[in-house]
Amino acid sequence: MTIQDPSESSELKTEIMRQIEQRGVLSFAEYMTLCLYHPQYGYYTSPRSRIGKQGDFFTSSSVHSLFGRLVARQIKQLWQLLGEGPFTLVEQGAGEGYLCLDILDGLAEEAPDFYAQLDYRIVEVSCDHRHRQQQRLASHIEAGRISWCTFDELKPFSGCFVSNELVDAFPVHLVEKKNNELLEVMVTCVDGEFKEEFGPLTDPRLSDYFDLSQQPLVEGNRAEVNLAALDWIKQVGQLLQRGAVLTIDYGYPAAELLAPWRRAGTLLCYHRHESSDNPYQHIGCQDITAHINFSVLETVGRDQGLETLYFGEQYRFLMGLGFLEELVRLQALETDPQRAQALRMTLKNLIMPDGGMGESFKVLLQGKGLGTPDLLCARTIREIGLPPSAC
Ligand SMILES: C[S@@+](CC[C@H](N)C(=O)[O-])C[C@H]1O[C@@H](n2cnc3c(N)ncnc32)[C@H](O)[C@@H]1O
Repeated sequence: MTIQDPSESSELKTEIMRQIEQRGVLSFAEYMTLCLYHPQYGYYTSPRSRIGKQGDFFTSSSVHSLFGRLVARQIKQLWQLLGEGPFTLVEQGAGEGYLCLDILDGLAEEAPDFYAQLDYRIVEVSCDHRHRQQQRLASHIEAGRISWCTFDELKPFSGCFVSNELVDAFPVHLVEKKNNELLEVMVTCVDGEFKEEFGPLTDPRLSDYFDLSQQPLVEGNRAEVNLAALDWIKQVGQLLQRGAVLTIDYGYPAAELLAPWRRAGTLLCYHRHESSDNPYQHIGCQDITAHINFSVLETVGRDQGLETLYFGEQYRFLMGLGFLEELVRLQALETDPQRAQALRMTLKNLIMPDGGMGESFKVLLQGKGLGTPDLLCARTIREIGLPPSAC
């Protein structure tokens, strides 16, 4: 009798093997697409807890509602810059719906005029996540503020396009430089196990990517190439008439991402809060991600009229939006010292560099038709001043 490993989808493994048998090999991007997005058995498409304590990883929006409430302040400023009229806010990849909930709760309380004019659209590829979002967001659905659509159904709009940890989940190609030639990592199957082999590049854009990054791949190194991210920012830039694209994710500028010392790339998998660099285990039951190349998002965005208005670490972004004042305010509301301490530890995760989300996560804000405004998120500690009890 075979005992089914509950941390792996045998159906998905069989399906991927069937496809390899039919087609010979799969590019890593095709393999990753099946692992994450197979319509029935994919990690993001099958019913499961992914985000939070019961799942595989935390996201900033799942850590505390303060994250979304601070993001809401930046979005409110964008609305003001656009003249305080009707405003479309598109969120792609909304997960459990926490970010949407906290933005909408924050605006309903702090900016009811804006809330009343807001058209929040969620683009979510996973039926399971859509269902969870609809349950969590019931009160805002009732208020007529949210709708769901596919990316292809989006019409040109003015407002903001926001995503948190979306782009790192796009399938990537894997490329290695050997004997001064770029080769692509392909996935094959030997004795019932997935194995890698090298083949010629399956898409000419894979070598163009390093020119676009202005950073050649060093001999012997491996890198992920997220072609989907290039198509995505181009399409988002075309859809946005006026406003901003706010992208929050872990990643680096090209020079840091493709630095010579980064020999093996940044591919990481998450399963029950453990990370590994092995995408061939826990098939269909683990998240597979790669750090994103913010430089190419900026370059491709520029061709679509998107100017970089802000790029920085998440901790700076949150500080600019009033993180410290809010920390002090929330702590003052907590009368039990143990709970106040727990709150402090939770919130620290959002800004701490080591082991937290403060430094590895970056924020890119690209604007169209906004000029060069003084953005709230760009305020420095010197401009804000420390709140009295944080000194
Ligand atoms: C890592 S989760 C991030 C969730 C959320 N933004 C948060 O802050 O918790 C990635 C989300 O993106 C969704 N997703 C992945 N690829 C997508 C795509 N191409 N279009 C729309 N949603 C996508 C997944 O289903 C999931 O909801």
